[in-house]
Amino acid sequence: MKVTGTMQTPSVDINLYGPEMAEDPWASLRRIRELGPLVWNERGQWITAHDRVCRQIMNRPLEATMKGVMTSTFGEGAFITMDDRDAHNALRNVWVSAFGTRGVASLVAFTRQIIEARLDEALAALEADGTVDMQPVFCRPIPAYVIAHMMGVGEDVIPTIVEWSDHLATGTSSGHPIDYENDFYWLRAEKARADLADFLLEQVQYRRAHPDHGLISKIVHSDLAATTPDAQMVVNLRQLLFAGNETTSNWLGHLVHIFGTRPDVRAELDADRSLIPSALEEMLRWLGIVHAVPRMVGQGGMEIAGVHLPEGAHIMALIGAAGRDPERYDDPDTFDIHREPKPHLGFGFGLHTCLGAILARMETAQAANALLDRMPSFRFVEPVTYESYMLRGPRRLVIERAD
Ligand code: HEM
Repeated sequence: MKVTGTMQTPSVDINLYGPEMAEDPWASLRRIRELGPLVWNERGQWITAHDRVCRQIMNRPLEATMKGVMTSTFGEGAFITMDDRDAHNALRNVWVSAFGTRGVASLVAFTRQIIEARLDEALAALEADGTVDMQPVFCRPIPAYVIAHMMGVGEDVIPTIVEWSDHLATGTSSGHPIDYENDFYWLRAEKARADLADFLLEQVQYRRAHPDHGLISKIVHSDLAATTPDAQMVVNLRQLLFAGNETTSNWLGHLVHIFGTRPDVRAELDADRSLIPSALEEMLRWLGIVHAVPRMVGQGGMEIAGVHLPEGAHIMALIGAAGRDPERYDDPDTFDIHREPKPHLGFGFGLHTCLGAILARMETAQAANALLDRMPSFRFVEPVTYESYMLRGPRRLVIERAD
Protein backbone atom coordinates (compact mmCIF):
# COMPACT_ATOMS: atom_id res chain seq x y z
CA MET A 1 0.00 0.00 0.00
CA LYS A 2 1.57 3.31 -1.13
CA VAL A 3 0.86 6.38 1.08
CA THR A 4 0.96 9.98 -0.28
CA GLY A 5 -1.13 13.17 0.12
CA THR A 6 -1.27 15.74 2.89
CA MET A 7 -2.26 15.72 6.57
CA GLN A 8 -5.73 17.02 5.61
CA THR A 9 -6.28 14.61 2.74
CA PRO A 10 -3.95 11.64 3.02
CA SER A 11 -3.90 9.31 0.00
CA VAL A 12 -3.16 5.67 -0.45
CA ASP A 13 -2.98 3.37 -3.42
CA ILE A 14 -4.70 0.20 -2.34
CA ASN A 15 -6.41 -2.51 -4.37
CA LEU A 16 -9.38 -3.54 -2.25
CA TYR A 17 -10.05 -6.38 -4.69
CA GLY A 18 -6.55 -7.91 -4.63
CA PRO A 19 -5.58 -11.24 -3.04
CA GLU A 20 -3.54 -9.56 -0.26
CA MET A 21 -6.60 -7.76 1.10
CA ALA A 22 -8.64 -10.97 0.92
CA GLU A 23 -6.03 -13.00 2.77
CA ASP A 24 -5.05 -10.62 5.56
CA PRO A 25 -6.49 -7.08 5.43
CA TRP A 26 -5.89 -6.10 9.05
CA ALA A 27 -2.50 -4.35 8.90
CA SER A 28 -3.57 -2.28 5.85
CA LEU A 29 -6.89 -1.38 7.50
CA ARG A 30 -5.12 -0.24 10.67
CA ARG A 31 -2.77 1.92 8.54
CA ILE A 32 -5.73 3.50 6.71
CA ARG A 33 -7.47 4.24 10.02
CA GLU A 34 -4.33 5.80 11.46
CA LEU A 35 -3.96 8.07 8.42
CA GLY A 36 -7.21 9.84 9.31
CA PRO A 37 -11.00 9.70 9.26
CA LEU A 38 -11.23 10.03 5.47
CA VAL A 39 -8.53 8.87 3.05
CA TRP A 40 -8.34 9.22 -0.73
CA ASN A 41 -7.63 5.94 -2.52
CA GLU A 42 -5.88 6.73 -5.79
CA ARG A 43 -7.95 3.99 -7.41
CA GLY A 44 -10.83 6.46 -7.39
CA GLN A 45 -12.66 6.45 -4.09
CA TRP A 46 -12.78 7.98 -0.62
CA ILE A 47 -12.41 5.38 2.13
CA THR A 48 -12.89 5.41 5.88
CA ALA A 49 -11.96 2.83 8.51
CA HIS A 50 -13.49 4.85 11.36
CA ASP A 51 -16.69 3.51 12.97
CA ARG A 52 -18.02 7.04 13.57
CA VAL A 53 -17.54 8.16 9.95
CA CYS A 54 -18.99 4.90 8.56
CA ARG A 55 -22.12 5.57 10.62
CA GLN A 56 -22.38 9.14 9.33
CA ILE A 57 -22.11 7.95 5.74
CA MET A 58 -24.76 5.25 6.13
CA ASN A 59 -27.06 7.61 8.01
CA ARG A 60 -27.17 10.26 5.26
CA PRO A 61 -28.77 8.41 2.32
CA LEU A 62 -29.76 11.56 0.42
CA GLU A 63 -26.14 12.77 0.34
CA ALA A 64 -24.25 9.45 0.32
CA THR A 65 -26.54 7.69 -2.14
CA MET A 66 -26.96 4.25 -3.67
CA LYS A 67 -26.96 5.77 -7.18
CA GLY A 68 -24.86 3.76 -9.59
CA VAL A 69 -23.36 1.60 -6.85
CA MET A 70 -26.07 -0.88 -5.91
CA THR A 71 -28.16 -0.62 -9.07
CA SER A 72 -25.56 -2.43 -11.18
CA THR A 73 -25.62 -5.38 -8.77
CA PHE A 74 -29.27 -5.50 -7.74
CA GLY A 75 -31.13 -3.81 -10.63
CA GLU A 76 -33.31 -0.70 -10.87
CA GLY A 77 -36.20 -0.65 -8.38
CA ALA A 78 -34.88 -2.96 -5.65
CA PHE A 79 -35.38 -1.31 -2.25
CA ILE A 80 -31.68 -1.69 -1.40
CA THR A 81 -30.98 0.77 -4.25
CA MET A 82 -33.48 3.43 -3.08
CA ASP A 83 -32.47 6.64 -1.33
CA ASP A 84 -35.99 7.95 -0.79
CA ARG A 85 -37.13 6.77 2.65
CA ASP A 86 -40.86 6.46 1.87
CA ALA A 87 -40.44 4.54 -1.37
CA HIS A 88 -37.81 2.31 0.25
CA ASN A 89 -39.89 1.59 3.35
CA ALA A 90 -43.08 0.86 1.39
CA LEU A 91 -41.34 -2.03 -0.37
CA ARG A 92 -39.27 -3.21 2.59
CA ASN A 93 -42.43 -3.34 4.74
CA VAL A 94 -43.92 -5.98 2.45
CA TRP A 95 -41.46 -8.48 3.94
CA VAL A 96 -40.56 -6.95 7.29
CA SER A 97 -42.75 -9.26 9.39
CA ALA A 98 -41.41 -12.40 7.66
CA PHE A 99 -37.89 -11.36 8.76
CA GLY A 100 -38.94 -10.16 12.24
CA THR A 101 -38.65 -12.07 15.52
CA ARG A 102 -41.92 -13.99 15.18
CA GLY A 103 -41.50 -14.71 11.48
CA VAL A 104 -38.01 -16.09 12.09
CA ALA A 105 -39.11 -18.09 15.15
CA SER A 106 -41.52 -19.97 12.89
CA LEU A 107 -38.54 -21.09 10.77
CA VAL A 108 -36.47 -22.63 13.56
CA ALA A 109 -37.74 -26.21 13.16
CA PHE A 110 -37.26 -26.20 9.37
CA THR A 111 -33.80 -24.63 9.68
CA ARG A 112 -32.72 -27.20 12.27
CA GLN A 113 -33.92 -29.99 9.99
CA ILE A 114 -31.79 -28.64 7.13
CA ILE A 115 -28.78 -28.23 9.43
CA GLU A 116 -29.12 -31.80 10.76
CA ALA A 117 -29.32 -33.15 7.19
CA ARG A 118 -26.16 -31.24 6.20
CA LEU A 119 -24.43 -32.54 9.33
CA ASP A 120 -25.46 -36.11 8.47
CA GLU A 121 -23.73 -35.67 5.13
CA ALA A 122 -20.63 -34.05 6.65
CA LEU A 123 -20.30 -36.76 9.31
CA ALA A 124 -20.76 -39.52 6.73
CA ALA A 125 -17.98 -38.00 4.57
CA LEU A 126 -15.75 -37.63 7.61
CA GLU A 127 -16.33 -41.27 8.51
CA ALA A 128 -15.80 -42.55 4.97
CA ASP A 129 -12.90 -40.35 3.82
CA GLY A 130 -11.33 -39.07 7.04
CA THR A 131 -11.81 -35.46 5.88
CA VAL A 132 -14.63 -33.22 4.68
CA ASP A 133 -14.77 -29.69 3.28
CA MET A 134 -17.39 -28.02 5.49
CA GLN A 135 -17.78 -25.04 3.14
CA PRO A 136 -19.78 -26.73 0.31
CA VAL A 137 -21.35 -29.45 2.49
CA PHE A 138 -22.44 -27.37 5.48
CA CYS A 139 -21.92 -23.59 5.30
CA ARG A 140 -22.91 -22.85 1.71
CA PRO A 141 -26.25 -24.66 1.32
CA ILE A 142 -27.96 -23.89 4.67
CA PRO A 143 -28.99 -20.25 4.01
CA ALA A 144 -30.00 -21.10 0.43
CA TYR A 145 -32.34 -23.85 1.61
CA VAL A 146 -33.89 -21.55 4.20
CA ILE A 147 -34.50 -18.60 1.87
CA ALA A 148 -35.80 -20.89 -0.90
CA HIS A 149 -38.22 -22.37 1.64
CA MET A 150 -39.29 -18.84 2.65
CA MET A 151 -39.83 -17.99 -1.01
CA GLY A 152 -41.96 -21.08 -1.53
CA VAL A 153 -39.86 -22.50 -4.41
CA GLY A 154 -39.11 -26.22 -4.85
CA GLU A 155 -36.04 -27.78 -3.22
CA ASP A 156 -34.93 -29.17 -6.61
CA VAL A 157 -33.92 -25.68 -7.80
CA ILE A 158 -31.80 -24.92 -4.74
CA PRO A 159 -28.44 -26.08 -6.19
CA THR A 160 -29.07 -23.80 -9.19
CA ILE A 161 -30.00 -20.91 -6.88
CA VAL A 162 -26.73 -21.43 -4.98
CA GLU A 163 -24.79 -21.33 -8.25
CA TRP A 164 -26.55 -18.17 -9.47
CA SER A 165 -25.92 -16.47 -6.18
CA ASP A 166 -22.22 -17.49 -6.20
CA HIS A 167 -21.88 -15.98 -9.66
CA LEU A 168 -23.61 -12.79 -8.54
CA ALA A 169 -21.34 -12.50 -5.50
CA THR A 170 -18.16 -12.89 -7.55
CA GLY A 171 -19.35 -10.51 -10.27
CA THR A 172 -16.96 -7.75 -9.26
CA SER A 173 -14.10 -9.81 -7.84
CA SER A 174 -11.76 -9.23 -10.75
CA GLY A 175 -11.26 -5.60 -9.75
CA HIS A 176 -12.23 -2.04 -10.69
CA PRO A 177 -12.80 -0.43 -13.07
CA ILE A 178 -14.77 -3.25 -14.63
CA ASP A 179 -14.48 -3.85 -18.36
CA TYR A 180 -18.20 -4.47 -18.78
CA GLU A 181 -17.78 -5.84 -22.31
CA ASN A 182 -15.14 -8.45 -21.58
CA ASP A 183 -14.78 -9.12 -17.85
CA PHE A 184 -15.42 -12.86 -17.37
CA TYR A 185 -16.79 -12.54 -13.82
CA TRP A 186 -19.00 -9.57 -14.67
CA LEU A 187 -20.45 -11.34 -17.71
CA ARG A 188 -21.05 -14.52 -15.71
CA ALA A 189 -22.87 -12.45 -13.05
CA GLU A 190 -24.93 -10.75 -15.77
CA LYS A 191 -26.05 -14.16 -17.03
CA ALA A 192 -26.91 -15.30 -13.48
CA ARG A 193 -28.90 -12.07 -12.95
CA ALA A 194 -30.86 -12.69 -16.14
CA ASP A 195 -31.48 -16.42 -15.45
CA LEU A 196 -32.60 -15.72 -11.90
CA ALA A 197 -34.92 -12.97 -13.18
CA ASP A 198 -36.53 -15.36 -15.71
CA PHE A 199 -37.02 -17.96 -12.99
CA LEU A 200 -38.55 -15.45 -10.56
CA LEU A 201 -40.84 -13.98 -13.23
CA GLU A 202 -42.33 -17.45 -13.75
CA GLN A 203 -42.73 -17.80 -9.98
CA VAL A 204 -44.47 -14.40 -9.72
CA GLN A 205 -46.93 -15.38 -12.44
CA TYR A 206 -47.53 -18.77 -10.83
CA ARG A 207 -48.15 -17.32 -7.35
CA ARG A 208 -50.68 -14.85 -8.74
CA ALA A 209 -52.99 -17.80 -9.33
CA HIS A 210 -51.62 -20.05 -6.54
CA PRO A 211 -51.12 -17.92 -3.41
CA ASP A 212 -49.24 -19.32 -0.41
CA HIS A 213 -47.54 -17.77 2.65
CA GLY A 214 -44.15 -17.35 0.94
CA LEU A 215 -42.17 -14.19 0.14
CA ILE A 216 -43.25 -14.24 -3.52
CA SER A 217 -46.95 -14.30 -2.66
CA LYS A 218 -46.39 -11.47 -0.18
CA ILE A 219 -45.54 -8.97 -2.92
CA VAL A 220 -47.86 -10.44 -5.55
CA HIS A 221 -50.84 -10.10 -3.20
CA SER A 222 -49.76 -6.91 -1.38
CA ASP A 223 -51.28 -3.41 -1.52
CA LEU A 224 -48.35 -2.45 -3.75
CA ALA A 225 -49.15 -5.10 -6.35
CA ALA A 226 -51.36 -2.83 -8.46
CA THR A 227 -48.61 -0.23 -8.86
CA THR A 228 -45.56 -2.50 -8.97
CA PRO A 229 -44.66 -3.96 -12.37
CA ASP A 230 -43.68 -7.65 -12.46
CA ALA A 231 -40.13 -6.68 -13.39
CA GLN A 232 -39.81 -4.64 -10.18
CA MET A 233 -41.21 -7.49 -8.10
CA VAL A 234 -38.55 -9.69 -9.66
CA VAL A 235 -35.60 -7.41 -8.81
CA ASN A 236 -36.82 -7.11 -5.23
CA LEU A 237 -37.21 -10.87 -4.85
CA ARG A 238 -33.82 -11.47 -6.47
CA GLN A 239 -32.28 -9.10 -3.93
CA LEU A 240 -33.83 -11.14 -1.09
CA LEU A 241 -32.59 -14.40 -2.57
CA PHE A 242 -29.07 -13.13 -3.10
CA ALA A 243 -28.38 -10.88 -0.11
CA GLY A 244 -28.49 -13.59 2.56
CA ASN A 245 -26.71 -16.50 0.88
CA GLU A 246 -23.02 -15.75 0.62
CA THR A 247 -23.16 -13.52 3.70
CA THR A 248 -24.65 -16.09 6.05
CA SER A 249 -22.54 -18.92 4.65
CA ASN A 250 -19.47 -16.80 5.44
CA TRP A 251 -20.67 -16.35 9.02
CA LEU A 252 -21.09 -20.13 9.27
CA GLY A 253 -17.58 -20.40 7.81
CA HIS A 254 -16.17 -18.13 10.52
CA LEU A 255 -17.98 -20.27 13.12
CA VAL A 256 -16.50 -23.53 11.80
CA HIS A 257 -13.08 -21.87 11.60
CA ILE A 258 -13.23 -20.70 15.21
CA PHE A 259 -14.44 -24.11 16.43
CA GLY A 260 -11.54 -25.80 14.63
CA THR A 261 -8.84 -23.40 15.81
CA ARG A 262 -10.08 -22.41 19.28
CA PRO A 263 -10.94 -25.57 21.26
CA ASP A 264 -11.06 -23.40 24.39
CA VAL A 265 -13.90 -21.29 22.90
CA ARG A 266 -15.70 -24.39 21.67
CA ALA A 267 -15.50 -26.00 25.14
CA GLU A 268 -16.73 -22.84 26.85
CA LEU A 269 -19.73 -22.52 24.53
CA ASP A 270 -20.50 -26.21 24.92
CA ALA A 271 -20.53 -25.82 28.70
CA ASP A 272 -22.71 -22.68 28.57
CA ARG A 273 -24.86 -22.46 25.45
CA SER A 274 -26.26 -19.09 26.53
CA LEU A 275 -22.92 -17.58 25.42
CA ILE A 276 -23.51 -18.57 21.77
CA PRO A 277 -25.31 -15.39 20.59
CA SER A 278 -22.67 -13.01 21.98
CA ALA A 279 -19.85 -15.24 20.67
CA LEU A 280 -21.39 -15.09 17.19
CA GLU A 281 -21.62 -11.26 17.35
CA GLU A 282 -17.98 -11.15 18.41
CA MET A 283 -17.02 -13.28 15.37
CA LEU A 284 -18.81 -10.81 13.13
CA ARG A 285 -17.15 -7.80 14.79
CA TRP A 286 -13.70 -9.35 14.81
CA LEU A 287 -13.64 -11.00 11.38
CA GLY A 288 -16.26 -9.07 9.39
CA ILE A 289 -18.15 -10.39 6.36
CA VAL A 290 -19.45 -7.42 4.33
CA HIS A 291 -16.25 -5.41 4.68
CA ALA A 292 -17.11 -2.42 2.53
CA VAL A 293 -20.34 -0.67 1.60
CA PRO A 294 -20.16 1.64 -1.42
CA ARG A 295 -21.97 4.96 -1.84
CA MET A 296 -21.96 7.80 -4.40
CA VAL A 297 -22.21 11.46 -3.40
CA GLY A 298 -25.51 12.95 -4.56
CA GLN A 299 -26.54 16.35 -5.91
CA GLY A 300 -24.90 19.28 -4.13
CA GLY A 301 -22.00 17.26 -2.75
CA MET A 302 -21.47 16.56 0.93
CA GLU A 303 -19.25 17.53 3.82
CA ILE A 304 -17.80 14.58 5.71
CA ALA A 305 -14.96 14.44 8.25
CA GLY A 306 -14.11 18.05 7.34
CA VAL A 307 -13.74 17.35 3.61
CA HIS A 308 -16.10 18.56 0.87
CA LEU A 309 -16.86 15.73 -1.53
CA PRO A 310 -18.31 16.73 -4.92
CA GLU A 311 -21.37 15.15 -6.53
CA GLY A 312 -20.43 11.84 -8.13
CA ALA A 313 -17.53 11.08 -5.76
CA HIS A 314 -17.29 7.42 -4.78
CA ILE A 315 -17.12 6.45 -1.09
CA MET A 316 -16.39 3.11 0.56
CA ALA A 317 -17.35 2.78 4.23
CA LEU A 318 -15.02 0.06 5.48
CA ILE A 319 -17.40 -1.44 8.03
CA GLY A 320 -15.24 -4.50 8.68
CA ALA A 321 -12.39 -2.20 9.70
CA ALA A 322 -14.83 -0.21 11.86
CA GLY A 323 -15.28 -3.38 13.96
CA ARG A 324 -11.68 -2.94 15.06
CA ASP A 325 -11.75 0.81 15.67
CA PRO A 326 -10.04 1.45 19.03
CA GLU A 327 -12.17 4.58 19.49
CA ARG A 328 -15.17 2.25 19.93
CA TYR A 329 -13.73 -1.06 21.19
CA ASP A 330 -11.10 -1.69 23.85
CA ASP A 331 -8.30 -3.96 22.68
CA PRO A 332 -10.10 -4.33 19.30
CA ASP A 333 -7.77 -6.91 17.73
CA THR A 334 -8.50 -9.44 20.48
CA PHE A 335 -11.30 -11.99 20.01
CA ASP A 336 -13.15 -12.00 23.33
CA ILE A 337 -16.56 -13.64 23.69
CA HIS A 338 -17.03 -11.92 27.07
CA ARG A 339 -16.63 -8.43 25.63
CA GLU A 340 -19.12 -5.81 26.80
CA PRO A 341 -21.93 -5.95 24.18
CA LYS A 342 -21.81 -2.96 21.83
CA PRO A 343 -23.55 -2.85 18.43
CA HIS A 344 -21.17 -3.32 15.50
CA LEU A 345 -21.70 -2.34 11.86
CA GLY A 346 -21.63 -5.89 10.45
CA PHE A 347 -25.27 -5.60 9.38
CA GLY A 348 -24.98 -1.98 8.22
CA PHE A 349 -26.66 1.05 9.79
CA GLY A 350 -29.48 3.50 9.07
CA LEU A 351 -31.99 3.21 6.23
CA HIS A 352 -30.47 0.10 4.66
CA THR A 353 -29.74 -1.85 7.86
CA CYS A 354 -29.86 -5.53 7.00
CA LEU A 355 -33.37 -6.96 6.71
CA GLY A 356 -32.09 -10.50 7.35
CA ALA A 357 -30.08 -9.96 10.55
CA ILE A 358 -32.52 -11.83 12.83
CA LEU A 359 -32.71 -14.69 10.34
CA ALA A 360 -28.91 -14.93 9.99
CA ARG A 361 -28.53 -14.89 13.79
CA MET A 362 -31.05 -17.71 14.16
CA GLU A 363 -29.40 -19.83 11.45
CA THR A 364 -25.89 -19.46 12.89
CA ALA A 365 -27.06 -20.07 16.48
CA GLN A 366 -28.85 -23.26 15.40
CA ALA A 367 -25.75 -24.33 13.49
CA ALA A 368 -23.50 -23.67 16.50
CA ASN A 369 -25.75 -25.79 18.74
CA ALA A 370 -25.93 -28.60 16.20
CA LEU A 371 -22.13 -28.62 15.73
CA LEU A 372 -21.64 -28.76 19.50
CA ASP A 373 -24.18 -31.58 19.82
CA ARG A 374 -22.94 -33.79 17.03
CA MET A 375 -19.63 -32.85 15.42
CA PRO A 376 -16.59 -34.32 17.19
CA SER A 377 -13.61 -32.03 17.87
CA PHE A 378 -11.87 -31.25 14.59
CA ARG A 379 -8.85 -29.46 13.12
CA PHE A 380 -7.95 -28.20 9.66
CA VAL A 381 -5.85 -30.30 7.29
CA GLU A 382 -4.81 -27.28 5.20
CA PRO A 383 -4.50 -23.55 5.95
CA VAL A 384 -7.80 -21.70 5.72
CA THR A 385 -7.65 -19.13 2.91
CA TYR A 386 -9.88 -16.28 1.70
CA GLU A 387 -10.98 -15.26 -1.78
CA SER A 388 -12.58 -11.87 -1.33
CA TYR A 389 -12.05 -8.90 0.96
CA MET A 390 -15.39 -7.28 0.12
CA LEU A 391 -17.44 -10.33 1.15
CA ARG A 392 -14.98 -12.15 3.35
CA GLY A 393 -15.25 -15.75 4.48
CA PRO A 394 -13.17 -18.94 4.31
CA ARG A 395 -12.85 -20.43 0.82
CA ARG A 396 -12.39 -24.07 1.96
CA LEU A 397 -12.73 -25.62 5.40
CA VAL A 398 -11.25 -29.10 5.10
CA ILE A 399 -11.37 -30.76 8.51
CA GLU A 400 -10.37 -34.04 10.15
CA ARG A 401 -11.19 -35.39 13.61
CA ALA A 402 -8.94 -34.06 16.34
CA ASP A 403 -9.71 -36.66 19.03
C1 HEM B 1 -24.20 -12.75 8.10
C2 HEM B 1 -25.20 -12.45 7.33
C3 HEM B 1 -25.46 -11.08 6.76
C4 HEM B 1 -24.66 -9.97 6.74
C5 HEM B 1 -23.26 -9.81 7.31
C6 HEM B 1 -25.41 -8.92 6.07
C7 HEM B 1 -24.95 -7.64 5.89
C8 HEM B 1 -25.70 -6.62 5.36
C9 HEM B 1 -25.26 -5.23 5.27
C10 HEM B 1 -23.92 -4.71 5.71
C11 HEM B 1 -26.26 -4.53 4.69
C12 HEM B 1 -26.25 -3.02 4.39
C13 HEM B 1 -25.74 -2.76 3.00
C14 HEM B 1 -25.60 -1.28 2.70
O1 HEM B 1 -25.93 -0.43 3.53
O2 HEM B 1 -25.11 -0.98 1.61
C15 HEM B 1 -27.34 -5.44 4.42
C16 HEM B 1 -28.53 -5.09 3.83
C17 HEM B 1 -29.48 -6.02 3.47
N1 HEM B 1 -29.49 -7.37 3.78
FE1 HEM B 1 -28.11 -8.38 4.82
N2 HEM B 1 -26.62 -9.43 5.68
C18 HEM B 1 -26.69 -10.74 6.09
C19 HEM B 1 -27.75 -11.60 5.92
C20 HEM B 1 -28.88 -11.31 5.26
C21 HEM B 1 -30.00 -12.21 5.07
C22 HEM B 1 -30.10 -13.64 5.64
C23 HEM B 1 -30.91 -11.58 4.32
C24 HEM B 1 -32.22 -12.15 3.92
C25 HEM B 1 -32.75 -12.17 2.84
C26 HEM B 1 -30.39 -10.22 4.05
C27 HEM B 1 -31.04 -9.24 3.32
C28 HEM B 1 -30.62 -7.93 3.25
C29 HEM B 1 -31.38 -6.89 2.56
C30 HEM B 1 -32.70 -7.08 1.83
C31 HEM B 1 -30.68 -5.70 2.71
C32 HEM B 1 -31.09 -4.32 2.21
C33 HEM B 1 -31.87 -3.64 3.28
C34 HEM B 1 -32.45 -2.30 2.89
O3 HEM B 1 -32.04 -1.70 1.89
O4 HEM B 1 -33.35 -1.84 3.60
N3 HEM B 1 -29.16 -10.11 4.63
N4 HEM B 1 -26.98 -6.71 4.85
